[in-house]
Amino acid sequence: MHKVLVLGGYGFFGKRIAAALARNPHIDVLIAGRDGDKAAAAARALGLAAASGQACDANDPALARRLAHLRIDTVIHTAGPFQTQHYTVARAAIEAGCNYIDLADGRDFVCGITVLDEQARSCGVRVISGASSVPALSSAVVDRYRTQFARLDVIRLGIGTGARVPGLATVQSVFGYCGKPFTHWENGAWTTTHGWHGLHRHRFPQPVGVRWLSHCDVPDLQLFPHRYPSVRTVSFHAGFANGLGHLTVWCLAGLVRLGVLRTIVPFAPSLNRASRWLEPLLSDAGGMFVTLEGQGRDQRPLRITWNLIARRNHGPHIPCGAAIALAGKLASGAGVPAGAMPCMGLLTVKEYLEPLRELDVHEIIE
Ligand SMILES: NC(=O)c1ccc[n+]([C@@H]2O[C@H](COP(=O)([O-])OP(=O)(O)OC[C@H]3O[C@@H](n4cnc5c(N)ncnc54)[C@H](OP(=O)(O)O)[C@@H]3O)[C@@H](O)[C@H]2O)c1
Repeated sequence: MHKVLVLGGYGFFGKRIAAALARNPHIDVLIAGRDGDKAAAAARALGLAAASGQACDANDPALARRLAHLRIDTVIHTAGPFQTQHYTVARAAIEAGCNYIDLADGRDFVCGITVLDEQARSCGVRVISGASSVPALSSAVVDRYRTQFARLDVIRLGIGTGARVPGLATVQSVFGYCGKPFTHWENGAWTTTHGWHGLHRHRFPQPVGVRWLSHCDVPDLQLFPHRYPSVRTVSFHAGFANGLGHLTVWCLAGLVRLGVLRTIVPFAPSLNRASRWLEPLLSDAGGMFVTLEGQGRDQRPLRITWNLIARRNHGPHIPCGAAIALAGKLASGAGVPAGAMPCMGLLTVKEYLEPLRELDVHEIIE
């Protein structure tokens, strides 16, 4: 049995990952978070022993000893926001001799994970950051289609969520950069933009339809110009199913940009709660797109848009695919190289989506 500890295992994404892993006969799941009672209750809800729920703090100085004592093979770290974290959990995992996978969407966090590469290699463990929609799924989609291009010029990425509101850590992650400047690769130069600005309408395939989207600061903006050197533009936008909520955050981000507010992170708990009340009124459909533009092998302009459309509020399972698939690979002994790396080139689109096969999640290629 491969023993996996899901840190943040009763959180919004953590509980979905834990539930999927509990169905794998080769995996023994432990659910962890700072509240032992919640962890035990989450374990029981999955039909596991209460002892499979453990109180565990990511910042515990004795974390490495704890992981070694529990004989953990792989830690899945979902306890964000990662933008404000150091590599405490990853370092503890390496010290304990276990693999580490996280769902990080913090640009510096994911890009900088390679500082642990030598240490991870010498201990023979995998340290994989960004095992989620970005950059794991987004890069897998680009890798799938790039061979159809003689020259790839543009990569545009975006996500429009459905009604189901993610956990506080996700909202804090996004709010952390709202109104703050960051760079992205535009027409072959690093250009400054601001979080949640660049407001525009995007048309997803039905039933998602037209949504407001805004600029987000994600690892792909840094990673993709290096991974795909011919590319001259990389952009990422996201938006909420709640249009009014989207515009409210856009206004608040504007106040940060103007210097009226320092940050909108303190609004995260109340806006997160208010959004939950509105869930029944909003669309249960959400989507992700990756648009690639360039020159095809026949030297003619080529544009491919890959969409992933989720209905029936199944969208929140999408960010979980990479961690579930990677844990499954590690448990089966499939070759995943040792070292520390952003989660790119480790999973194909098919492998990523395999854990979601029974859900209402479908690809549409345009
Ligand atoms: N890369 C991507 O594409 C992508 C996509 C989606 C989400 N994400 C990231 O995934 C992360 C998780 O999001 P979520 O919506 O699941 O958040 P969430 O519902 O707030 O869950 C976070 C969990 O972590 C636990 N936690 C917080 N601090 C902890 C600590 N010090 N030690 C141990 N456990 C701790 C929380 O429980 P307690 O507070 O009780 O400990 C909670 O169970 C976010 O950072 C988000 O940005 C990334």
